[in-house]
Amino acid sequence: MPLITHARDHRLWVLTAAESCYVLHVGDDDLLHGLHWGPALTLEQAITLLDYPPPRPRSCEDPRDGILDLGAAGGARYGHAGLQVRFPDGTRDLELRFTGHQISDESLILTFEDSHYPLAVETHYRVRADSPAVERHLTIRHTGTDLPIRITRADSATWILPARTDYRLSHNYGQWAAENQIQRSVLAFGATVLGSNRGMTSHHANPWALIDDGSASEEHGAVYGAALAWSGNWQIVVQRLPSDRVSLSLGAGHAPESRLLEPGDELTTPVSVGMYTEGGFGAASRAWHDYIRAHVIPHPDELRPVLYNSWEATEFDVSLKAQMTLADRAAAIGVELFLLDDGWFGRRIDDTAGLGDWTPNLERFPDGLAPLLEHVHGLGMKFGLWVEPEMTNPNSDLYRAHPDWIIARPHRDRTRIREQYVLNLARRDVAEWVRATIDNLLRENAIDFLKWDMNRPLTEVGPLDGSTDDGLWSAYVENLYAILDRLRADHPALRIECCSSGGGRVDLGMLARTDQVWISDNTDAVDRLTIQHGYSQLYPAQTMGAWVTGSPNPWTARSTPLDFRFHVAAAGALGIGVDLAACSDAELGRLGELIARYKSVRHVIQHGVQYRLGESNAVQYSALDGTEIVVLAFQQSRSFGRADAALPLRALDPQAGYRQVSTGREHHGAVLLTRGLPLDLPAGEQASTLIHLRRVGIIPPNEEEANPWHASAQ
Ligand code: DGJ
Repeated sequence: MPLITHARDHRLWVLTAAESCYVLHVGDDDLLHGLHWGPALTLEQAITLLDYPPPRPRSCEDPRDGILDLGAAGGARYGHAGLQVRFPDGTRDLELRFTGHQISDESLILTFEDSHYPLAVETHYRVRADSPAVERHLTIRHTGTDLPIRITRADSATWILPARTDYRLSHNYGQWAAENQIQRSVLAFGATVLGSNRGMTSHHANPWALIDDGSASEEHGAVYGAALAWSGNWQIVVQRLPSDRVSLSLGAGHAPESRLLEPGDELTTPVSVGMYTEGGFGAASRAWHDYIRAHVIPHPDELRPVLYNSWEATEFDVSLKAQMTLADRAAAIGVELFLLDDGWFGRRIDDTAGLGDWTPNLERFPDGLAPLLEHVHGLGMKFGLWVEPEMTNPNSDLYRAHPDWIIARPHRDRTRIREQYVLNLARRDVAEWVRATIDNLLRENAIDFLKWDMNRPLTEVGPLDGSTDDGLWSAYVENLYAILDRLRADHPALRIECCSSGGGRVDLGMLARTDQVWISDNTDAVDRLTIQHGYSQLYPAQTMGAWVTGSPNPWTARSTPLDFRFHVAAAGALGIGVDLAACSDAELGRLGELIARYKSVRHVIQHGVQYRLGESNAVQYSALDGTEIVVLAFQQSRSFGRADAALPLRALDPQAGYRQVSTGREHHGAVLLTRGLPLDLPAGEQASTLIHLRRVGIIPPNEEEANPWHASAQ
């Protein structure tokens, strides 16, 4: 069956994604209505939706407010408009007329033009058979020859939900070292605005939102979700009108940013992805994970190597000798990728100097990076290096040579954050210098992996060229994407970790160009459970870098057992950040055992299907073919007299048996699903376990077990 069907007479299109659909309709008014988003409908069924017009709000305002898929500002519509412009004569109202459509296997383009002014708008949609995801963006074109048109808002998508009274909104908020905190609340009347005006995705919110039917749990209920693939300023407006009409509008940019569209120019917005799923928040997350793996991340089938990062061990106190010692110990415990973090270049002995001077500090590395690199490679590990290419310190050769390269305004302060400025990547010459410098670093050194950091937001942003166009914000991100794309193309074996003081720039745009994410600088295992739980709402485990670090934790001073710290970090792409030089032989031995254990199950954790069991207390990963299960479970504290509960698992074959690899004990699938898996947690606080099960086929019926009365009846 085709994914996109069209009823010409009704000017109606059905976009069929996996187990869901999105229905569009151009009315007699020439406006684009979002007619249905939800369970799949056939074309014939969808046409009958036209017989159920939405109730007219009891007011003299435009009855189409809140139901337009292309929500262009105009007339008596006062709700959020995803498309807002100002024509040269000051007119703000858009009067769009439908001009045509193009359908191909997976995509649909609907075209509109203004009835008077030279503006054309295309709405683009794409669906695929393997996912409930609908991908969308707009293209806006100035078709005239005269004056520029100002675009004041161009949301990539305005998703129209069925009118309901009981929706809840879920999204993540946070701050540095406390990213990904879930907020779930009744959807408020009016507009709920989420976003970032920092020039980066930000630690404070993440560009996605979920709306559930009001009753959804981890296992049950309908969930609508949408995300924006963009790494700069962004805004999501979730609107609930008094009539209970609900829309979800996502776009790049943040008020009062605007763009000038010159005659002949075209503006293409980033992609927004939306999906409708049933089966609760768990199923919604799994659908997002599947989509991101299948259509976003560059190397979904690779296993992420076990990484060692020396940052928490040494911070800026970097030396060749100490790094070699760490590398020796890392290799001995089974690490596969050794990463030298900040402090290796220029005069970078603390955070006040050196950014921009991407050559080794010769006092610390007299013969450059080669000796360490060869040492690391000689130990059989890959070599990774930290860079922060978008930045410069005032105390750097780069800044002294090019003080005009930073983002700044002539009559304003140059705000320093972490003693650094942001290079103006929107300038082509600066962007090209950044690309060429990192390219050179990669050509001169056999670097396998970069940790690409970005430690401060943008400030004092203004127009690039004396005009009043705010295009710097988006040109910065576009040029960053171009640099990453080109570096990846020129160095195909290179892998990149996305970092921004932890998780300050996590989004589908960066995930398309990097291989894993450092999701938070907070390495406290207890805090981390919450941060990882929030991350997993949208993003898959294989992208989530997580380190085992020292105890007490440097950020929270909390002491936790090594196994607990390890099991928390094992929930994604494992890293080790412990000061290995300070570890006892016993600790190194235990780390070695745990890493070997992780390696034996990481294909299930990184490539399997994830089930969250309880509020961040346990996670189950099932291999795609169902033959292996890995469970990570955490018991933070215990009360006297309360036994540890068994943990019911999910999505097993009730007819099959499952053998616990470490003990050989066999369990019936049906019993694991109902009674649960006995966890046999160790004694004490912050107890945790990693359990690996293998499906062993059908366990032969054992009458005594099946019928407890059997034995006594004999
Ligand atoms: C911030 C990162 O999140 C840390 O992991 C570390 O790389 C520092 N920057 C280094 O300056």
